[in-house]
Amino acid sequence: MTTTTANAQASGQFKIGGDLQVNRLGFGAMRITGKGIWGEPDDRDEALRVLKRLPELGIDFVDTADSYGPFVSEDLIAEALSPYGDTVIATKGGLTRSGPDVWPPLGRPEYLRQCVLMSLRRLKLDQIPLWQLHRIDKKVPQGEQFGIMKQMQDEGLIRHLGLSEVSVDEIKAAQQVFEVTTVQNMYNLVTRQSEDVLDYCEQQNIGFIPWFPLASGSLAKAGSLLDSVAKQQGVSPSGVALAWVLQRSPVMLPIPGTSKVKHLEENVAAAGLKLSDEDFKALDEQGKAEASKQK
Ligand SMILES: NC(=O)c1ccc[n+]([C@@H]2O[C@H](COP(=O)([O-])OP(=O)(O)OC[C@H]3O[C@@H](n4cnc5c(N)ncnc54)[C@H](OP(=O)(O)O)[C@@H]3O)[C@@H](O)[C@H]2O)c1
Repeated sequence: MTTTTANAQASGQFKIGGDLQVNRLGFGAMRITGKGIWGEPDDRDEALRVLKRLPELGIDFVDTADSYGPFVSEDLIAEALSPYGDTVIATKGGLTRSGPDVWPPLGRPEYLRQCVLMSLRRLKLDQIPLWQLHRIDKKVPQGEQFGIMKQMQDEGLIRHLGLSEVSVDEIKAAQQVFEVTTVQNMYNLVTRQSEDVLDYCEQQNIGFIPWFPLASGSLAKAGSLLDSVAKQQGVSPSGVALAWVLQRSPVMLPIPGTSKVKHLEENVAAAGLKLSDEDFKALDEQGKAEASKQK
C-alpha cells in the first residue's frame, strides 16, 4: 500500500455525461452552514478558507444545494470560488426549508424552475453544470418533475441532469425523458442498501455520488482491521473508509463534507491511498456484515 502527494487528482477522473471531466474525489458543501443545515456557519472565515483551499488540493467537483442554509452554501461558494475556472459546481433543488433539519419536498414544475433560476443567480452562473433533483416529490406526478428538468436543459439553463435518493426503477423512468448523468444516494462502507443502484450506474456509466461517505460505524473500533490499516498508512479511519468507497467502483464520486481545513486535508490524503485486494475484500465483508445488523 502506498500514499502519494495529497491531491484529489490521485483519486482518478470521471467524465460526467461523457464530457465534463472531474477528479473523482469531490467536496460536499452541506457542512459549511449552521446547525441543522440552517443559517450561517459558526466560523464563516474558516468556511471560506475551506472553499478557497479546494482548487489548491485538486478538488474540482463541488456539490451543494439551494436548501443548504438555505442559500448560505451557494452564497459562500460564489463568494469564495466565482469565477470558477475548471471547478464544476453541482447543485440541487426540490426541497423546501421551514426550520433546522426540516426538508419537505416540493416538486411542482413552477417551483423547480424557480429553484434553478435562483441557484443560477446566487452562484453567478449562466448555466448550471450539473443540477440534481434533491428528491422526487411523491405528491406530484413524476413525469411533470422529469419533464420540467428536460425543458430547462433544452433551454440551456442546465448542462447535465442528476437524481438523488432514487431506485433503479426511478432512474429507468427518468431515462425515458432525459439522460441521467449522476445519481446521489447514501452509501458508505456500512450503509449498503443502494448496491443495486450502484451496479446499475456502473453498467450505464452514470456517476454515483455517495453521500455520508466517511462513515464506518463500529468497524473503526480500536484493534480492528480498519484501525490497523489507518495506523499503518498514517491516515484517519474515515480516510480508509473513503479510500474503500473510491476503490469500490470507477463511477464513484464521493463528496465528503467538512467545515474545517484540517479535516479537508485529511480527506484529500485518502485520495491516493490504495488498499490491497486482501484488505479491500476483508473490509467489504465486514462492512456488509455491519450493514445487515442495522437492517
Ligand atoms: N442528496 C442528499 O440527500 C444528501 C444528503 C446529505 C448530504 N449530501 C451531500 O453529501 C455531502 C457529504 O455528506 P455528509 O456531510 O452527510 O457526510 P460526510 O461527508 O461523510 O461527513 C461529514 C461529517 O464528518 C465530519 N468530518 C469530515 N471530515 C472529517 C475528518 N477528516 N475527521 C473528522 N471528522 C470529519 C464533518 O465535521 P467537521 O465539519 O467538523 O469536519 C461532518 O460532521 C454533503 O456535504 C452534501 O453535499 C447529500
